[in-house]
Amino acid sequence: MYDFLVPSVNFAGKGAVEVVGERCKILGGKKALVVTDKVLKSIEDGPVDKVVGHLKDAGIDVAFYDGVEPNPRDTNVKDGLKIYKDENCDMIVTVGGGSPHDCGKGIGIAATHDGDLYDYAGIELLENPLPPIVAVNTTAGTASEVTRHCVVTKTDVEPNVKYVIVSWRNLPLVSINDPLLMVGKPSGLTAATGMDALTHAVEAYVTLNANPMSDAVAAQAIKLIAGNLRQAVAYGHNIEARENMAYASLLAGMAFNNAGLGYVHAMAHQLGGFYDMPHGVANAVLLPHVERFNLNCNLKKFAEIAEMMGENIHGLSLRDAADKAIDAIVQLSKDVGIPSGLAELGVKEEDIPAMAELAMKDGNAGTNPVSGTVKDLENLFRAAM
Ligand SMILES: [Fe+2]
Repeated sequence: MYDFLVPSVNFAGKGAVEVVGERCKILGGKKALVVTDKVLKSIEDGPVDKVVGHLKDAGIDVAFYDGVEPNPRDTNVKDGLKIYKDENCDMIVTVGGGSPHDCGKGIGIAATHDGDLYDYAGIELLENPLPPIVAVNTTAGTASEVTRHCVVTKTDVEPNVKYVIVSWRNLPLVSINDPLLMVGKPSGLTAATGMDALTHAVEAYVTLNANPMSDAVAAQAIKLIAGNLRQAVAYGHNIEARENMAYASLLAGMAFNNAGLGYVHAMAHQLGGFYDMPHGVANAVLLPHVERFNLNCNLKKFAEIAEMMGENIHGLSLRDAADKAIDAIVQLSKDVGIPSGLAELGVKEEDIPAMAELAMKDGNAGTNPVSGTVKDLENLFRAAM
C-alpha cells in the first residue's frame, strides 16, 4: 500500500501565473499575505509585481512580508506572522523558490499552532489546518510548492540547526509553475536549483519508500534534467529548456514528496545550518558520494538511472552499468559549474563529526536505502571534501 499526495491543483506552463488571482478568489481569500524576498520584490514588472497585479484584478487585498532569507530562519517566520496578524490576512501567497514557500508554510503553522515551531519538527505532528497557501514558484529546483516539507533554521542555538516539519497539512492548495517567471535567472542559481531537482529525483527513485507512481515521475524528471539543465544554464533565455526544467522540478517534487529522500538531503541540511551553503550546491557535491555508497542496494535501478541520463550501458554488467549513473551525475555537475568539493566551499574538518551526528537525526536519513552509521556519514563528508 502507498499513498500519493500532491496539492489539489497544479498549474504548469507558460502564462500559468495569470490564474493566481481567480484561484485565490475561489479559495475565499479577502486579504493575502505575499511572502517573498527583497530581491524578487524589487524587480520592476517581475514575478511579485505580476502576482500582485493578478490578485488586485481579482479583488484580493495584499500585505507583504519580503524579509525571507535563503535557508529561512525562525525569525523570518516570526516577523511574517506579525504582519499576517496585524494586517488581518486570511491566506498566504508565496512567491519565489524554496525559501519563501518554506517560510510561508512556517507562518501558516505558527498562525494555527501554539508553542515553538521547533516543537513540530518531525513527521505528521501538525494538529490543525493551515490557512490556504497558494505557491507561485520562480526556480526550477526545490519544489517546495508541491511538497509537505517545511524546512526552517533554528537560530537560538549555536551552531544553527536546520530542521524539517513534515505534514500533509503543509501542502499548498494550489501550485503554479510558470517558466516565464524563470527566464533569465543567473546561471549559478539555475545550476544549483537544477541539481537540487536531480537530487530529489535520484534519491526518491532509490529510496526505501519508492512506489510505482513516485518511480514514474522520478524517472521522467531525471530524463528531462539530463536533457535540459546544461542548456538552461548555458543560455538562460532558452524557453524550451526552462519549460522542461520547470516540469522536471515539479515531477521530482511529486516524487520525493511521496517516496522521501535520503542521506544527501540529511547531510546537505547540516551544510545549510553550519555554513549557510546554498542547498542545491550542497546536494550536488554530496550526491555522487552518497549514491556510490548506496549503489549495492539496487544495481538495477542505478543502471536505469545511467540510461535515463544518456549513458550507453549496452553490453555492460549490471555493476558496471550502475557505476555509469555515478559517472553521469559527476559529469553533469561539472558541466554546469558546480564546485568539485566541500573544502573549496569553506567546510572545516573539525565540524564533520557534529554534522554527521545531526545528519543521522535528520528526518530524511530514515529513508536512505542503505542504513549507515554516524561513522559512515563522517566518511561520506570526508570523501566529499
Ligand atoms: Fe532539496
